[in-house]
Amino acid sequence: MGRWELVVLGLACWLAVASAAKLGAVYTEGGFVEGVNKKLGLLGNYVDIFKGIPYAAAPKTLENPQRHPGWQGTLKAKDFKKRCLQATITQDSTYGKEDCLYLNIWVPQGRKEVSRNLPVMIWIYGGGFLVGSSQGANFLSNYLYDGEEIATRGNVIVVSFNYRVGPLGFLSTGDSNLPGNYGLRDQHMAIAWVKRNIAVFGGDPDNITIFGESAGGASVSLQTLSPYNKGLIKRAISQSGVALCPWAIQKNPLFWAKKIAEKVGCPLNDTGRMAKCLKITDPRALTLAYKMPLAGMEYPMLHYLGFLPVVDGDFLPSDPINLYANAADIDYIAGTNDMDGHVFASVEMPAINKDKRAITEEDFYKLVSGFTITKGPSGANATFDFYTKPWAQDSSQENKKKTVVHLETDILFLMPTEIAVAQHKTNAKSAKTYTYLFSQPSRMPTYPRWVGADHADDLQYVFGKPFATPLGYRPQDRTVSKAMIAYWTNFARTGDPNMGHSPVPTHWDPYTLESGNYLEINKKMDGSSMKQHLRTNYLQYWTVTYQALPTVTGEGATPTPPTGDSEATPTPPAGDSEATPAPPTGDSEATPAPPAGDSEATPAPTAGNSEVAQMPIVIGF
Ligand SMILES: *[C@@H]1O[C@H](CO)[C@@H](O)[C@H](O)[C@H]1NC(C)=O
Ligand SMILES: *[C@@H]1O[C@H](CO)[C@@H](O)[C@H](O)[C@H]1NC(C)=O
Ligand SMILES: *[C@@H]1O[C@H](CO)[C@@H](O)[C@H](O)[C@H]1NC(C)=O
Repeated sequence: MGRWELVVLGLACWLAVASAAKLGAVYTEGGFVEGVNKKLGLLGNYVDIFKGIPYAAAPKTLENPQRHPGWQGTLKAKDFKKRCLQATITQDSTYGKEDCLYLNIWVPQGRKEVSRNLPVMIWIYGGGFLVGSSQGANFLSNYLYDGEEIATRGNVIVVSFNYRVGPLGFLSTGDSNLPGNYGLRDQHMAIAWVKRNIAVFGGDPDNITIFGESAGGASVSLQTLSPYNKGLIKRAISQSGVALCPWAIQKNPLFWAKKIAEKVGCPLNDTGRMAKCLKITDPRALTLAYKMPLAGMEYPMLHYLGFLPVVDGDFLPSDPINLYANAADIDYIAGTNDMDGHVFASVEMPAINKDKRAITEEDFYKLVSGFTITKGPSGANATFDFYTKPWAQDSSQENKKKTVVHLETDILFLMPTEIAVAQHKTNAKSAKTYTYLFSQPSRMPTYPRWVGADHADDLQYVFGKPFATPLGYRPQDRTVSKAMIAYWTNFARTGDPNMGHSPVPTHWDPYTLESGNYLEINKKMDGSSMKQHLRTNYLQYWTVTYQALPTVTGEGATPTPPTGDSEATPTPPAGDSEATPAPPTGDSEATPAPPAGDSEATPAPTAGNSEVAQMPIVIGF
């Protein structure tokens, strides 16, 4: 190589270095951390990526997380850490580690100088409080929850972290011996770490948004309701999961603690001795002591989720419905997918996905009964009658199968989300409230054509997969992804999904009790995407008609899981949620729904005067 070439090469290198904005080693409360600076495209910008920064010390089994003591020298933060210890998909072995409380950070950089005061978005993954990891599933080295697309397209910092799941995250004796909520406390530790440290990465600690999906969406909701996060969270987004979902809170944790104790040979008759014994048991044995039944279930799946957040009187001082005053200054988006219940309905009634197989009224009645245990046969009858009424006009199998999916969507996701949004709005002071329905149809080739957006279908769009792996997607998928990233990151920046760094396809009007406004998100977005009063006649059914039926068994009664042993179902602690106030619909004077609503919308109840808007109730399934 000649002298001139060397000079030119040297100059080019110098220019590249001089123009690359990067953080280098960053000084956090624990010590220095150094990530990777990645160039995006030829003329492009940069992103600084930190993987595996500890936000708490390695946790002790079934104990609250503690602050990390810090380290000497510079911590290389270049690889994802192992997930928190959990069962594999086959449930006969485990993977991950107990030492798992680490987080990852993506910081978008311009070409000249490092970013400052960026909004921060913290991701909380789902997985039924049983499985999951900060990076998500890996397809061809492309992790589902890679923060790069959101960070660079929306010009925000993205943070993701691990939290404990399964028995190690949520086992509780229902008393002070094992209060539970370890996984929720991990989440809080991560949020608090970000609040204290994100400024040195270029983030604005006063503009933290938490967002999550499914159990992560419910976690987001629970974090906004916990007094522990006072002043830490500015905004929140719950995708397909809120604190009011019937699977979000375990009402009878001791029942499940005993199941584990029995399996691993710990005392059952004294929770103090049980707790001591469980804490010194091999954490892998604790994890494998619980198995989620995946076939041959007597009841719907939701009844077998044993290890969930609990009302412990501290992190969650009361039933979530009573805690919305704590979210009065937190801007909130909550929404669902139009067929969120599909994947669960597919497990409980596999025929819905087979065009050649028929479902019967008996099948549907049995499914309904499993969801209406607390109201006995009259609850099952009333619900069955209400949901099958449209079958008189259209008795096609397709219509019946859609009814199955809508029942599960309503119970598991939609109704709880509608109540949560109403409750947030009712309590809001400075905060804004928005809600959406995601309806871009599933691309699963084995599903019938009528299937809409299934549970978790929104994730690939929010995380920009149509851009990260363009060959796997169509242009319409990039349209959907672009819109979602724009709304989500604008919201993180300003509290208004319409205003910020990115243009949006159509204006998203805030939710009010009167308007019932919601944005329908799919490939075709325009002025007609703003709709009103989603399935309000169903909301009315569940919150008024169903609620008025007499309860025959204790709320939260836990069916015995099909493990063979015949331990009787214990009576749950006397819950007071039956005594919660009246529905969000205010007085019952009915007005017609606007024609823009979906075809199922029937008269929408007026909300009455919002100044005296009444608090919603929890549906006791
Ligand atoms: C962060 O939040 C504060 C308070 O809401 C606001 O004044 C400020 O503009 C926000 N910062 C950015 C970068 O949006
Ligand atoms: C609990 O069980 C153990 C062993 O079966 C027994 O020795 C003990 O007395 C029991 N304690 C109580 C409080 O029943
Ligand atoms: C439920 O419906 C079935 C069939 O119509 C009827 O035989 C039964 O008496 C009803 N039960 C209640 C409690 O309404």
